[in-house]
Amino acid sequence: MSEIAKITLDGETHELPVIVGSENEKAIDISKLRGKTGYVTIDPGFKNTGSTTSAITFLNGEDGILRYRGYPIEQLAEKASFLEVAYLLIYGDLPKKAELDAFENEITRHTMVHEDMKTLLRAFPAGAHPMGVAASLIVSLSTFYPESQDPNRDKEAVDLSIVRLLAKLPTIAAWSHKFSERHPVIYPKNKYNYVENFLNMMFELPTEEYKVDPIVAKALNTLLILHADHEQNCSTSTVRVVGSSQANLYASVGAGISALWGPLHGGANQAVIEMLEAIRKDGGDIDKWIAKAKDKEDPFRLMGFGHRVYKNFDPRATIIKKAADDVLKALGINDPVLDIAKQIEEIALKDEYFVKRGLYPNVDFYSGIIYRAIGIPTEMFTVMFAIGRLPGWIAQWKEMLEDKSPIGRPRQIYTGSAVRNYVEIENR
Ligand code: CMC
Repeated sequence: MSEIAKITLDGETHELPVIVGSENEKAIDISKLRGKTGYVTIDPGFKNTGSTTSAITFLNGEDGILRYRGYPIEQLAEKASFLEVAYLLIYGDLPKKAELDAFENEITRHTMVHEDMKTLLRAFPAGAHPMGVAASLIVSLSTFYPESQDPNRDKEAVDLSIVRLLAKLPTIAAWSHKFSERHPVIYPKNKYNYVENFLNMMFELPTEEYKVDPIVAKALNTLLILHADHEQNCSTSTVRVVGSSQANLYASVGAGISALWGPLHGGANQAVIEMLEAIRKDGGDIDKWIAKAKDKEDPFRLMGFGHRVYKNFDPRATIIKKAADDVLKALGINDPVLDIAKQIEEIALKDEYFVKRGLYPNVDFYSGIIYRAIGIPTEMFTVMFAIGRLPGWIAQWKEMLEDKSPIGRPRQIYTGSAVRNYVEIENR
């Protein structure tokens, strides 16, 4: 028999349905509570609120489990290609060989961006943060493809927007970097796969051919897979809420990029490297910085530590830590900030403050060290996260649309002034 929850309000008991997920997670369905009782629930930051059911990603923060469409992240990170994972997330199953070939082919054919985009790029100041540029340009794609503006139009139009987004974000990302440095852009080349093509657009110079290092390409492929989805996080929830108003996919993803930018979310990868550098320049006194992070009067937080849902360990961080070691060794790089990162981790994992609060290194703690080792400039780190997260945003937007989700519109409890009469300005 299915469970029900009971709630007693104003002396009356009401029954609420219980929803059970395929991994036995349980939720009390309060969607009709206000209609029945006049009460809403309140949960700032949605710490205990499920905003949707979803069949895309399963995450168990207590046991450190992450699966895309049922497949463990460890297996995908080791064996799959990023576009294979993108297909899996968006269309629900691992592609057969012919399906993957067709998907990759379609994406390869759409990697160029409209030449007028360069006019937009030129308008940004030198040194413009690439996240600001990427968010703007992704939204602007909707103006180049007006047929995308009605997301309910037809399945083919949506599929085309999906392909265009996946194909063009790496080009936009690499071009935003080149423009910010006032260097000429490098066009996409069809001879490369997705990851190689991005690396080539980032690093080739008109004066010098760039040779893609397979170690670098493999490391980047792994990082992108690890970031590809993470169920209802801040940016994904943003994409869903914006999309729930039936805004088009480009507009919804643009909003997701903006949400990702903050240092408490995707911007943490840039903040981690800046923090590690600051610690190094300050003389490397780890205890001093750990004490700062614990001091409630000090706004400093240990960036790359803690997570809303992982309270034991972040399985992505485990994979990334090993990948960072492997990549640095393979490339023969000795990065002093890796040593500082390892020392911080060792001390924090034994410190009561961090243990008691379940604060562990998250995905961003070591990712920046790999990006740095493969030559990605610090300001581009969060853009790399965006390229990785794009399939997840798309899959969640598509699911939201197919499920005919209602518009996202939370309630509130008003705490302002009671009604009062307007006072003429001279009498205030
Ligand atoms: N350093 C020091 N103290 C911390 C940290 C930290 N990095 N993170 C959390 N705490 C403390 C916090 O002060 C609070 O202590 P108390 O209970 O005494 O008030 C307690 O731990 C719980 O923290 P919270 O802020 O209530 O937790 P949250 O779930 O709202 O926030 C978080 C999660 C990720 C925003 C937070 O842990 C944080 O700011 N971490 C640093 C930024 C970071 O690395 N973000 C990347 C997250 S992973 C990438 C992604 O998926 O977005």
